[in-house]
Amino acid sequence: MSAPVVLGVETSCDETGVGLVSDGVLLGDALASSMDAHARFGGVVPEVAARAHLESMVPVVRQALEAASLDLADVDAVAVTAGPGLSTAVQVGLAAAKALAFALDRPLYGVHHLAGHAAVDVLEHGPLPPRCVALVVSGGHTSLLLLGDLARDPVVHLGDTTDDAAGEAFDKVARVLGLAYPGGPAIDAAARDGDPRAIAFPRALSRPSDPPYAFSFSGLKTAVARWVEARADAGGEVPVADVAASFQEAVADVLTRKALAACREHRVDALLLVGGVAANSRVRALAEERCAAAGIQLRVPRPRLCTDNGAMIAAVGDLLVRGGAPASGLDLAADPSAPLTGALLAGPWT
Ligand code: KG4
Ligand code: ZN
Repeated sequence: MSAPVVLGVETSCDETGVGLVSDGVLLGDALASSMDAHARFGGVVPEVAARAHLESMVPVVRQALEAASLDLADVDAVAVTAGPGLSTAVQVGLAAAKALAFALDRPLYGVHHLAGHAAVDVLEHGPLPPRCVALVVSGGHTSLLLLGDLARDPVVHLGDTTDDAAGEAFDKVARVLGLAYPGGPAIDAAARDGDPRAIAFPRALSRPSDPPYAFSFSGLKTAVARWVEARADAGGEVPVADVAASFQEAVADVLTRKALAACREHRVDALLLVGGVAANSRVRALAEERCAAAGIQLRVPRPRLCTDNGAMIAAVGDLLVRGGAPASGLDLAADPSAPLTGALLAGPWT
């Protein structure tokens, strides 16, 4: 018998993603985004995102099946982001996944969105090592984690952000600089022509007395806003490329320094860098440089798999199915602020 095919559904933010994975292999996926509809608001509007998911869901399921050359009848299990994320957005995906699981009479696996970000690397670089440090950097989260078997072991939090997520800082700084939403890719592009040493922005929580694996980006965001304001007040032109490059350098420096320190302290020789901000060219380059110098293997998915997509949810579902995890059941509720303790978000009955 061939390995089970898992269909994954992702709708936690503004991307409607569907992927099909079997035995660690991506068979096909499809993505629709409502990003353009949010651009003029400078951030995701939950009701607009939820409505867009509702409109895109069936076409995206069809496209993903077509890309994989599969029929719905070939699907053996359905995995879905049950949280964290925007409540109404998560609920659209969850309802769709339940409908599919019910109609096909297949098990449903409610999964944690961030576990999906980590699991997606399996599709590109093969099975995860028995232990690794994962730096999850997205629009809503910034966490340093110690991972074992993603399907079975609890996730250990080494540190999290105390205020803004790294991606949120990119989005807010982009707004200050008058760059387009989403801010991450816009800053990444603007920084290419800038000098990362032009302005010495602060590296928060970097003193020896600070918690070693906690992050804070709110002060950095304020420092950038103040610097830009002061320059504008003095009648000067704001050097957007230099500000973008210097800000990006500060984020990349803190993220990678703390991630490497965690690897060293926990004697882990593999670092997994995932989430939307892992698509950032400077974060990737600095992580590569520092991992190479420390003899640590860096695993970072290609940029398209770093930002939200359906393949990542199918990937974590595939790990759960192969690991023999219990299905979630069709009364699974959305959990918009689910803490990351494990990959599976079980129902309230367990
Ligand atoms: O993981 P993701 O797609 O969605 C969440 O789960 O939040 O991450 C989105 C975040 C946004 O804040 C976006 O600005 C940021 O990832 N991002 C980037 C880049 N591409 C996306 N940040 C920096 N550089 C990039 N190239
Ligand atoms: Zn995400």
